[in-house]
Amino acid sequence: MSNLTSKEKEKIFQDLLDNNSLSKQNLRDSQMANIDPKFNFSDTDFYLKYVKDEPWLPLLNHGIELFTLPFTYTPEDALHLYQVNMYCDLIQDQDLKDKKIIDIGCAYGKGVDVLNRYYDYKVDGYDINKAFIHIAKETYPHLTFTDTLNIDDYDVLLFVNSLHAVWNSGLIHRLKDKQLYINDFFSADALNDFKTLLALNKWEVKLEEDVSQKWMYGMRKDIDTLDKRFPNVTSVSKNAYKHIQANRLRQFEVGSNRAYKYIIQC
Ligand SMILES: C[S@@+](CC[C@H](N)C(=O)[O-])C[C@H]1O[C@@H](n2cnc3c(N)ncnc32)[C@H](O)[C@@H]1O
Repeated sequence: MSNLTSKEKEKIFQDLLDNNSLSKQNLRDSQMANIDPKFNFSDTDFYLKYVKDEPWLPLLNHGIELFTLPFTYTPEDALHLYQVNMYCDLIQDQDLKDKKIIDIGCAYGKGVDVLNRYYDYKVDGYDINKAFIHIAKETYPHLTFTDTLNIDDYDVLLFVNSLHAVWNSGLIHRLKDKQLYINDFFSADALNDFKTLLALNKWEVKLEEDVSQKWMYGMRKDIDTLDKRFPNVTSVSKNAYKHIQANRLRQFEVGSNRAYKYIIQC
């Protein structure tokens, strides 16, 4: 790669953005390839059919099993144990004092709420889905949520199962001098494309951890304990959630997806 002229590098970079699976098909499409029906937790139809009228706001990431965090979660947070783990683990042991932090793809805002309570940082939330931001503002009126991001206002961008937000929105062109904290899953092609983008941009990868096993343990436990944790949610709603979770787990078990935690300095 280092023998290429800058013009050649620019062309490869442009081709990646124009033609690769992350942008032509986009990361979300590649993640959805083997899901049937085509629901995912952040799908608006899933929300309208299975969440809106139910006594729960499930977190929308798939969660990880982890025993190393130093917190005693509140009973409400413990109901969403694996997903809350993923949020708390993302910035654990990091010094983000004086940094302006935003959760990209924050959905109903639960992760933003969790981080503000367990850490001594101020974390804001951004989501493209106006309905989700409306819910987040209503549920956590003391926190800051927006559906229009001014990226210049932030130093640290968190992506919890929302990396596709970068590719969909063209945000990637504006990531100079930012720290990215990511926990997401990839097909083999999408991972290769992502790594090529990192290399071409010369972004510093401060941490790369394969967290597939933690995701798989978390997903299994989440499915197994869902009925017990949410006795007042209808079976129809829980079964739709379990269906997505089981479908995703299967993609990991057959090796078509892997999950990674990344910390990246742009
Ligand atoms: C799988 S959910 C994860 C939600 C949340 N991070 C969590 O862990 O519960 C992905 C979220 O990204 C949001 N999203 C998708 N494209 C986006 C974009 N271009 N900009 C901001 N948010 C986006 C979706 O609306 C959805 O709420």
